[in-house]
Amino acid sequence: MKREIITTADGSKTIHFPEWNEQYHSKHGAIQEAYHVFIKHGLHYYGQSITETVHIEEPLNQLSILEIGFGTGLNALITLLESEKLQTKVDYVGVEAYPISQDEVSGLNYSSELNSDRLIFDKLHEVSWEEKHQISDLFSLIKQKKFFNEINDKDIYNLIYFDAFGARVQPELWTEDIFKKMYDALKESGVLVTYSAKGSVRRAMQSVGFTVEKLPGPPGKREMLRAAK
Ligand SMILES: C[S@@+](CC[C@H](N)C(=O)[O-])C[C@H]1O[C@@H](n2cnc3c(N)ncnc32)[C@H](O)[C@@H]1O
Repeated sequence: MKREIITTADGSKTIHFPEWNEQYHSKHGAIQEAYHVFIKHGLHYYGQSITETVHIEEPLNQLSILEIGFGTGLNALITLLESEKLQTKVDYVGVEAYPISQDEVSGLNYSSELNSDRLIFDKLHEVSWEEKHQISDLFSLIKQKKFFNEINDKDIYNLIYFDAFGARVQPELWTEDIFKKMYDALKESGVLVTYSAKGSVRRAMQSVGFTVEKLPGPPGKREMLRAAK
């Protein structure tokens, strides 16, 4: 399928599929969306950034995070940068069946937009799959090349970033079967965050046992969901 790199409203790039009219991130701002959904309502659920006053549910100084769709590595990069601000140790697992190409990595501008060292972003992509790599003092990464329905982890994550393509184009990824796997993978009281606020998604989450909260969405979206085990 044809893929192209486009610039979103906040100046950060993303990958767009013209045939699907779908992209890796919101056209209203890739970095803005990632920060709002996964950091503000995910990572900050567990701790407070020194740059922003946020609600703290349960401060933890060590977190285990699963990302559903490693993709461009944007969420991983922002989480790494945020782990420094929070002084929180993060063990990050990114699952991805279709890694992006080296040309695509080169075409993404997240390092300059986030004022971070390009070598860090490149390293996220260069490191081998299936092995644990210490990327910074506080941030380790395991990239797993597999399909989401092959995830069989039990009780190991505090937080899941659920960032699959939308239910409009990949409805099979927003089902009870997948959310049951996510529920099982979380530790007790762990949370899953996603940009989607669809009623069918919320009901699928509830039917496997999640307690689901609607939260204000990122620019261009009224609501998003956070589901707690
Ligand atoms: C919305 S994009 C992820 C964006 C990513 N979190 C980022 O920050 O760039 C969804 C990702 O899921 C991957 N994907 C789609 N279907 C999958 C499947 N069944 N199993 C594993 N990965 C899949 C895609 O290749 C894509 O990278």
